[in-house]
Amino acid sequence: MIIHTILFVTDLYYPAKGRNYYEEDLFLTSKLRETFHLVICHPEDIEAFEDHTDLIVFRNAGPVANFKVKYEAFRKRVIAKHLNTYNSLDGKADMNGKEYLIQLTDAQLPVIPTIDTIDHLDELPHGHMYIIKPKDGADSVGLKFVEKDKLVEEVKAHSKDTLIQPLIHFEYEVSFYFIDKQFQYALYAPDKDKRWELKEYTPTDKDLHFAKRFIEWNNIHWGIQRIDACRNEQGELLLVELEDLNPYLSLLELSEEKRNNFVEVMKDSLQKALKG
Ligand SMILES: Nc1ncnc2c1ncn2[C@@H]1O[C@H](COP(=O)(O)OP(=O)(O)O)[C@@H](O)[C@H]1O
Ligand SMILES: [Mg+2]
Repeated sequence: MIIHTILFVTDLYYPAKGRNYYEEDLFLTSKLRETFHLVICHPEDIEAFEDHTDLIVFRNAGPVANFKVKYEAFRKRVIAKHLNTYNSLDGKADMNGKEYLIQLTDAQLPVIPTIDTIDHLDELPHGHMYIIKPKDGADSVGLKFVEKDKLVEEVKAHSKDTLIQPLIHFEYEVSFYFIDKQFQYALYAPDKDKRWELKEYTPTDKDLHFAKRFIEWNNIHWGIQRIDACRNEQGELLLVELEDLNPYLSLLELSEEKRNNFVEVMKDSLQKALKG
């Protein structure tokens, strides 16, 4: 039997807020190496190894804005050299920045209403407080609370690279994790001030229907996606973001059974990706 090789891309030393990325990747690589020949690689060093591997698995690399030029060059080489990647890089969401939130708003999907120009302010629900965030942001970098009076000034200072949203007074945030189009598990943050202290969440049919709409919309060939949502004061879920490049998975927060099950499903999905 042929054992395939995997280039596992992660920044083991990335200082993520409230999380130790490397612990998740130490776990995941220890499991994947049971089935594949695996090499760990820093996200800025992919080029040196990409021609000598069967599949490039992009995991906890941190925000790509930190190595924007190299990331864009990598995306170009994936197309030019037909490199096989996991996730497949055909997503429409976070892998291309946050601009898709405007598209989803225009399509009237259940998402935090989002615009990128003050001229469209009428399209947002009227309120006193707004949030602005950079289109290429992640890990809350550049996120700012702004009062209505200050909005014009703030947005001008950032030009069109900034998104504008109403401040949502949500009850809690909840994330739904998918491999390919299959739901795996859900976690929520019961304490609003502790975004990364997550507990298991049992979704209702309605919740799953909500999450699956975005998975269907994105329609990627293969990979792991995380649907982040918040429950607003009216009890409705609104999309916060769709992570389709390298969502942190909080695998070590899961029960052993769920964690191992996730690994098995991921291995099957990687085998599918290897077949192309
Ligand atoms: N419009 C909003 N209203 C209230 N809270 C928000 C809003 N947008 C973001 N947040 C808070 O900020 C966090 C980070 O925002 P997010 O859009 O997920 O960006 P990032 O890519 O940096 O994770 C969210 O998890 C949520 O707690
Ligand atoms: Mg987020």
